[in-house]
Amino acid sequence: MKLAILSRAPKAYSTQRLRAAAEQRGHVVRVLNTLRFAIDLSGPEPDLQYRGRPLSDYDAILPRIGASITYFGTAVVRQFEQMDVYTPNTANGIANARDKLRATQILSRHNIGMPPTAFVRNRADVRPAIERVGGAPVVIKLLEGTQGIGVILAPEVKVAEAIIETLQSTRQNVLIQHFVSESRGRDIRALVVGDRVVAAMRRTAQGDEFRSNVHRGGAVEAVELTPEYEEVAVRSAQIMGLRIAGVDMLEGADGPLVMEVNSSPGLEGIEKATQLDVAGAIIDYLANQVAFPEIDVRQRLSVSTGYGVAELLVHNNGDFVGRSLGDSGLAERDITVLTVHRGTTVIPNPRKATMLEAGDRLLCFGKLEEMRSMIPERRRRRAKVRKLPAQPLPEPAG
Ligand SMILES: Nc1ncnc2c1ncn2[C@@H]1O[C@H](COP(=O)(O)OP(=O)(O)O)[C@@H](O)[C@H]1O
Ligand SMILES: [Mg+2]
Repeated sequence: MKLAILSRAPKAYSTQRLRAAAEQRGHVVRVLNTLRFAIDLSGPEPDLQYRGRPLSDYDAILPRIGASITYFGTAVVRQFEQMDVYTPNTANGIANARDKLRATQILSRHNIGMPPTAFVRNRADVRPAIERVGGAPVVIKLLEGTQGIGVILAPEVKVAEAIIETLQSTRQNVLIQHFVSESRGRDIRALVVGDRVVAAMRRTAQGDEFRSNVHRGGAVEAVELTPEYEEVAVRSAQIMGLRIAGVDMLEGADGPLVMEVNSSPGLEGIEKATQLDVAGAIIDYLANQVAFPEIDVRQRLSVSTGYGVAELLVHNNGDFVGRSLGDSGLAERDITVLTVHRGTTVIPNPRKATMLEAGDRLLCFGKLEEMRSMIPERRRRRAKVRKLPAQPLPEPAG
């Protein structure tokens, strides 16, 4: 394959290792400076210039986009996506992972354990938010910090309020997060490639530091993950749309708590701690996936007027229960079932003989009008009926 590593740091350990691993395997590899691309939308097809000249053809890119150039970097990655060049991490995935709030919002509906987190703007909402996540000591985080910079532990509510107010007055957005003290300055970094964890390490903060980042002097050691930690790491990366990711987890009393998902994880600490060829695993994965550039399925399937994608629910006592897919009448209504979600398992390309069960979720492509009546009701956060107070309401005066 012909691979472009997008990086501004050709000399950095990670870049060098990735380049060497690609060359070793007989691939053609170039390290291209992300900031020297020009996005070209002047011609009939989306195009890219590099250092002022038309870019040659590549089979795959490996984006290593630093936090300081997220906007331009993701625009370049998006352009490669438009040109059907394979990328393990999409522009959307990188942008979502970069913003700690956005990442938390996306992960929160997928049953991924995370430290309780709040985000507020008004000064009056700060104290209740701190209390909601568990009170002081409390962690305060800049939305786009890396390497531990921008992560603060405030010992008291008053101090926390002052810090938040100061940061907000300089137009910095901050997260308020429960301090997971049982983790005792340690965390787990799992390196996910595709659908598996290829290496994992435990990082331990030194001295009175609570941040375990390698850049903050954290000590690293290889660690064997339990299936629970492994599954949470892989699922988090998948949900974020990242095939290559470093997932940071705290060891909470009840299991893994995901703090963040890094889209350009450093390789030095983890390769040295584990003695594993992580760069090689990444290159092998890319070579294997090159034929499958990312496709925005919903977007592509929505271009025929009146057609689209929807998820249909098999109701408890509805018509579908106990019938096979072939007898469900969906095909006759011009609806194709792409996958059946059953609990935590997925049946891809279900056959006609597949029996439908209550609670199944069918991912369908078809006429939107036909599907409208079958779309499940939105789940309610709270019961609609409010409990009445024990005492009868007083009669209105007059
Ligand atoms: N809620 C928390 N409770 C305890 N420790 C935390 C918490 N959040 C972060 N940390 C510590 O701070 C480090 C940096 O936090 P993280 O959210 O990963 O930011 P960064 O992007 O700067 O690495 C973590 O690796 C962990 O050691
Ligand atoms: Mg981190």
